[in-house]
Amino acid sequence: MEPKSKNIVWHHATIVKEDRERLFGHKGVVLWFTGLSGSGKSTLANEVEAQLFERGCHTYILDGDNIRHGLNKDLGFSPKDREENIRRIGEVAHLFAQAGVIVMTAFISPYKADRDMARKLSKEGEFIEIYCRCSLEECERRDTKGLYKKARAGQIPEFTGISAPYEAPDNPELIIDTDAEALAESAAKVIAYLEGQEIITPQ
Ligand code: ADX
Repeated sequence: MEPKSKNIVWHHATIVKEDRERLFGHKGVVLWFTGLSGSGKSTLANEVEAQLFERGCHTYILDGDNIRHGLNKDLGFSPKDREENIRRIGEVAHLFAQAGVIVMTAFISPYKADRDMARKLSKEGEFIEIYCRCSLEECERRDTKGLYKKARAGQIPEFTGISAPYEAPDNPELIIDTDAEALAESAAKVIAYLEGQEIITPQ
């Protein structure tokens, strides 16, 4: 989409991403967690963040439920609103990565096209899609927020997995089977990936 405003001119910053990366000692990237509600996106992002923070990395988490209390409080769960939700988050995540931060996003982000739109903002290798793969049965069994029960009772329209679709990624950088492995194991896989890609320095 073209900007609505005319007569706007891009301003080039003096300090660029690479300068910040040199200062911080790691790359600025987007770790895009996607999966059903209750699939463990936020839990995994928080564990990864804790470990990266311990190593002195600059990190931040953008979380679905939290962002919907502020920046995206005007949005609901229709396909159009979810698209706008992900568009804004994609832009914000991109800004964080430009600032040299390892930013983690934990949104269902059910539509492939929306995730791809977010990916397109980043350079090759700077957008890491992490699919938290967990069966609907297991998410429903956990039902940490009690929302599946409500959705089954018809009290929440357009609920992902029940009455709205989830399009699993075809080619994510990482697949984490959150119903089959322990949190520590899943977090270790993400950290190992970041080391392997030289986003962070191996310890
Ligand atoms: S997304 O589809 O637009 O990416 P997002 O991650 O921001 O969703 O928000 C999902 C969270 O909102 C869920 O974890 C759940 O707590 C809550 N929620 C409320 N209504 C719905 C709904 N209809 N579908 C999915 N999640 C919902």
